Amino acid sequence: MGSAILSSASIFTCRPLLDNLKANSRLATSNQTTFLGKDYIKTKSFTRTSMTVAVNVSRFNDVTMAPPDPILGVSEAFKADTHEMKLNLGVGAYRTEDLQPYVLKVVKKAENLMLERGENKEYLPIEGLAAFNKATAELLFGADNAVIQEQRVATVQGLSGTGSLRLAAALIERYFPGSKILISAPTWGNHKNIFNDAGVPWSEYRYYDPKTVGLDFEGMIADIKAAPKGSFVLLHGCAHNPTGIDPTPEQWEVIADVIQEKSHIPFFDVAYQGFASGSLDKDASSPRLFAARGMELLIAQSYSKNLGLYAERIGAINVVCSSSEVAQRVKSQLKRIARPMYSNPPIHGAKIVANVVGNPDLFNEWKDEMELMAGRIMSVRRKLYDSLSAKDKSGKDWSFILKQIGMFSFTGLNKAQSDNMTNKWHVYMTKDGRISLAGLSSAKCEYLADAIIDSFHNIS
Ligand SMILES: Cc1ncc(COP(=O)(O)O)c(C=O)c1O
Repeated sequence: MGSAILSSASIFTCRPLLDNLKANSRLATSNQTTFLGKDYIKTKSFTRTSMTVAVNVSRFNDVTMAPPDPILGVSEAFKADTHEMKLNLGVGAYRTEDLQPYVLKVVKKAENLMLERGENKEYLPIEGLAAFNKATAELLFGADNAVIQEQRVATVQGLSGTGSLRLAAALIERYFPGSKILISAPTWGNHKNIFNDAGVPWSEYRYYDPKTVGLDFEGMIADIKAAPKGSFVLLHGCAHNPTGIDPTPEQWEVIADVIQEKSHIPFFDVAYQGFASGSLDKDASSPRLFAARGMELLIAQSYSKNLGLYAERIGAINVVCSSSEVAQRVKSQLKRIARPMYSNPPIHGAKIVANVVGNPDLFNEWKDEMELMAGRIMSVRRKLYDSLSAKDKSGKDWSFILKQIGMFSFTGLNKAQSDNMTNKWHVYMTKDGRISLAGLSSAKCEYLADAIIDSFHNIS
């Protein structure tokens, strides 16, 4: 610690110190004096003199420097770079073709409606805005779904996807002590942090096959089968992060079979509903498939990407239970967990979602905008593939890029190659080889292809 911390010490607690200080202070012309190489500042306080001691040792001296976040740290390094071709493909945030952040038109319209109505900023209940909770569960399952009709879903508004995952992790730790959660290898960088901090043990199931840059389906099934009965299994609802590789509908059926056989509890992370394929229903098909089998499951939702509400921190945790009575009890416990963590959730994003999803005109406009966003990502994905195929004369098959879905592409570049992308080409990305295509413009596809080809062939 470079900075000195001032601590107050009563001089009456240390007689020899006092005598020395008195002697020293007689010589001092100002309020400052020195003793044993340290600086002291004399202060007068009513009837007695006290000394403020400037010490170089902080009480927080044992706190070590935390490493920068592997995803958010990339944006900080990007900002500091002044190269004109620099590209930030680290964070998963949608950019326009001019690579600018984008606020959806429907979001602006919903905010205008809120302003016109002059809505207040009173606290929300612990479980969040009722209209939001209704809208979000219906968006996830479809309003006609049996789980909604039978009121079997405990829905609590959360602090976006991350906060919703964290609430569920705390519920697991409390009600299933010692149960472990299986996480795909690899997964979104924050999953392990979330379960670590909540005290939920985790292990990995095979997911990514570097040989095919595709799904290791056999490995995945074998690992889920081998886990202790009643484990939780974390699944990405769609657009798996970081690989962009999703199981096929047939593979989802097999995954559900195995989870049912082993009495595991599925836990879906749905952070990209509508953003993967452009269709809200299609992207929710995997959790719906599990719910249709009558299984109990957890689903965390996020509106960061599909409504571009990143900083509003709006999402939800949904627990599908076997009866409405169990769902009520689960909800009461989720609220109990939320109360001491953050008391109650923020209102602004919840109202935006409720207004967009609850208003047929805005809802349809949202679907159109989402299709545009998903479409732009698909078109740069195609252009990147075309550029790689045209420029790379080695015969390497780059078609895996087209098979991947959603915001991300897992390039298969290793850490040294990813470092070369950044250091030589000013392309900022996570060190696992993931690039966010949402941060790429058509204009820069060829440049990116050059960077990938150079890094892949010239760096081992
Ligand atoms: C798989 C996955 N889950 C959850 C999240 C949570 O995001 P947020 O907390 O911003 O909603 C993300 C964000 O990148 C993600 O990729």
